[in-house]
Amino acid sequence: MSASKRTATITLDGKTIDLPVHHGTTGPDVVDIRKLYAEGDVFTFDPGFTSTAACESGITYIDGDAGELLYRGYPIEQLAEQSSHLEVCYLLLYGELPTPAQLADFEGRVTRHTMVHEQMHYFFRGFRRDSHPMATMVGVVGAMSAFYHDSLDINDPWQREVAAIRMIAKLPTIAAMAYKYSIGQPFVYPKNSLDYASNFLHMCFAVPCEEYVVKPALAKAMDRIMMLHADHEQNASTSTVRLAGSSGANPFACIAAGIACLWGPAHGGANQACLEMLREIGTVDRIPEFIRRAKDKNDSFRLMGFGHRVYKNFDPRAKVMKESADEVLGLLGIENNETLKVAKELERIALEDEYFVSKKLYPNVDFYSGIILEAMGFPTSMFTPIFALSRTVGWISQWKEMIADPAQKIGRPRQLYVGPTRRDYIAIGAR
Ligand code: SDX
Repeated sequence: MSASKRTATITLDGKTIDLPVHHGTTGPDVVDIRKLYAEGDVFTFDPGFTSTAACESGITYIDGDAGELLYRGYPIEQLAEQSSHLEVCYLLLYGELPTPAQLADFEGRVTRHTMVHEQMHYFFRGFRRDSHPMATMVGVVGAMSAFYHDSLDINDPWQREVAAIRMIAKLPTIAAMAYKYSIGQPFVYPKNSLDYASNFLHMCFAVPCEEYVVKPALAKAMDRIMMLHADHEQNASTSTVRLAGSSGANPFACIAAGIACLWGPAHGGANQACLEMLREIGTVDRIPEFIRRAKDKNDSFRLMGFGHRVYKNFDPRAKVMKESADEVLGLLGIENNETLKVAKELERIALEDEYFVSKKLYPNVDFYSGIILEAMGFPTSMFTPIFALSRTVGWISQWKEMIADPAQKIGRPRQLYVGPTRRDYIAIGAR
């Protein structure tokens, strides 16, 4: 961050307060209001943080108007085309693309942490079989702090590093276990001979009775989905991880908090809600009815997978996901998939409709992802767990950046109080 020559001046009751303005490397400048309360005895008010930068970060940059997403400066479209999820994990964690030797070492470290403590298998037994896999993941990931005591000290850089590797390595295993448990099948152990995405698909779809061979094209599509979801600036779940981490909570508890936040249908739960909406629409001829409902102020229905707080142009991830949907469904011989047809027609109609155009509502990352995941054989309940395991690297990278920031303080927002002023207690006999 660097100070710019600009200042913002607030005049309150005749008092003038000059607030410094800071530059980043790109994107909007920020007005530093840290001294506002002390000098002006007022708070700023920004529910939902629509105009608030909560931190300094060098990890991910989004230009919502241009529809641009950069991981450490590299465009998501180029990474999705040329990189791999574990290479993107290295990039997000350490800031630079790895050399071949660095990547091989990193892949080796992650691969050798993919198993979970055998005792954790018993955790799953406590859940009902019909538990949503996200409920299981929140519980089991939070419980990791009861097992991995040698990576809980957030002040030890080495323990932070080990916690990061463990999280990236074990989240796919835990997500696969949550899936297997929900369908009554035995857990499948990770195989070190498989790459990261193939290992996840194998743990989800293999059974002990026969050999399961992962199709390379599906593994590549899975790996691309993971890359597209890896990080996304200060979204709700990442902000949750940062806020939890600001109190000094251990990394496993912070990631569990992020998983809980991601579950909401306005956030990571939208991929499940979107596919369920597309199924409810069912056929192209029913689209106008749903477009009308989405525009009706008195109807709580929203087009799931549409709109975004930051993107006021196409979400670049949605573009890649749409191409991937065509590729995967074509590979599986289901290119005439009715759900994909409804999705494409819904997108076309919405993008010509004044309501969506005026509000700059475009398909987001969740609009097409569910179509691909369903085609791969996942139930809708596994869509958000896959988002969570993919976003783990973003959460842990942002958490590490925050912990290492010397200016880091516990997050403690204030409020505009609108409740009763001081009043005396009334004994129950007098009420
Ligand atoms: C993710 O933050 C991130 O980066 C998140 C994410 C990530 O990678 O971490 O990108 C992942 O969460 C993607 C978003 C997934 N959610 C959905 O697809 C759910 C549907 N979308 C909306 O609920 C909504 O668009 C949000 C929550 C995504 C964004 O909400 P905002 O920025 O708070 O915008 P808003 O709710 O104030 O809406 C602005 C206007 C409103 O109309 P007015 O009150 O101004 O008249 O647009 C309307 C809304 O009613 N609107 C929609 C709509 N989204 C917004 N109308 C119909 N359908 C929609 N989907």
